[in-house]
Amino acid sequence: MNTKLDPWSSSDITDYSKLFEEFGISPFENVLPEIPCPHRYMRRKVIFGHRDYEQIAEAMRTGAPFSVMDGFMPSGKVHLGHKMVMDQIVWHQEMGASAFVGIADREAFSVRGFSWQKCREIGVEEYILSLIALGFKPEGLIYFQSGCGSVKDLAFELGAKVNFSELSAIYGFSGETSLSHMLSVATQAADILQPQLEEFSGPKPVVVPVGPDQDPHLRLTRGLAGKMNMFRVEEREDVKTGRKYLSVRGKTAQKEALQELKKRIPGKVKLYEEHIDVLEYPDLAGLEKIVREVALEFEGYAFIPPASTYHRFMSGLQGGKMSSSIPESQIALTDDPKEGAKKVKRAKTGGCVTLEEQKKLGGKPEECSVFELMLFHLLDDDKELLEIRQECVSGTRMCGSCKQLAAEKMHEFLKDHQEKRELAREQLDEYRIIYKN
Ligand code: TRP
Ligand code: SF4
Repeated sequence: MNTKLDPWSSSDITDYSKLFEEFGISPFENVLPEIPCPHRYMRRKVIFGHRDYEQIAEAMRTGAPFSVMDGFMPSGKVHLGHKMVMDQIVWHQEMGASAFVGIADREAFSVRGFSWQKCREIGVEEYILSLIALGFKPEGLIYFQSGCGSVKDLAFELGAKVNFSELSAIYGFSGETSLSHMLSVATQAADILQPQLEEFSGPKPVVVPVGPDQDPHLRLTRGLAGKMNMFRVEEREDVKTGRKYLSVRGKTAQKEALQELKKRIPGKVKLYEEHIDVLEYPDLAGLEKIVREVALEFEGYAFIPPASTYHRFMSGLQGGKMSSSIPESQIALTDDPKEGAKKVKRAKTGGCVTLEEQKKLGGKPEECSVFELMLFHLLDDDKELLEIRQECVSGTRMCGSCKQLAAEKMHEFLKDHQEKRELAREQLDEYRIIYKN
């Protein structure tokens, strides 16, 4: 029954992977071996997909600069789903990333109709305190979108490269959609590209850890990154000889920029009105580097398309979806620890109806929300978790003992987290936080 080949496999992952093939998302396993001490979410396939994570892994190994960026709409209570994203931000920061966290008050204002005051309250009280309590370091930047001039300016510039048809194709925007809602989408793209601005020392790989529902934003932003750039490097093929070569397009570049570029590229090159054919230098990465340098010298953009990771969602504690509108389905990081433990005890398991049956047939950890809690959040030791899994499927473990263990761990986590939140409150002014003025 249980092939034991892959202890972390889950049916959702296969569904997601199918869903994403068409959007060019790669399975995370492909990069896993390149990552020095991967995070628990990576080892356990909670993170199942990525785009361009190779460059992030390489930066971690070589010590080259890279960033992690994420945004939170200040919409309500901070819960375990947000914790997943925050854990990943903190981990990348520990691995050497400069970290950027945007509080998407423009989105909450335009989509939810929240006042700036309410955005600020929820932003600090829910998200920022928990982010810091989970280990975010003061070197990182936290900002409210509406207080961040560079993000707002960039959002406006990006807006020139996207039209209504594209937005309605990606987000289903219609004639009813407000201008502010559209602007909030451009602002989110600006959030993601901001770490590569000159004031943050220029182009670098940036990873945005998200759930699959946020992928449309990334597709839009990656497209915009290309459209903003002064040059574009392409692989071409000579129609007559079939020989492959590289070519740099520079539609918006000044003549001088193209000429300067021509001088810097090794080997034979041919300069045209708006592009340069590179005939003897097949090194794509090398060429991209040269092109970036020249673009920056001529005050153009040279964004690297943002990388991303995709994590699967936990299911609701009662089965079904985990949702903020059903408090019983999820655990808020500010829930009373006793209440949190109770929710665990009431959660749906993958056990059988009777104990006899369970001893005979075993349980189903892949359909068990208590097991999921341990897998995502509560047990850091892979060996212990695999033992529990094995005992469960072989029918030697009963749900009561899992619930007891998970409830205790949840109580402990919430109590500790809430103490850390209070400490964070006192440390707030040691952090770089840009508020709306
Ligand atoms: N749209 C995201 C949400 O609904 C918030 C967000 C804003 C974001 N800017 C971002 C997410 C940048 C990732 C990257 O929560
Ligand atoms: Fe879930 Fe544990 Fe019951 Fe298995 S024994 S179904 S892991 S609660």
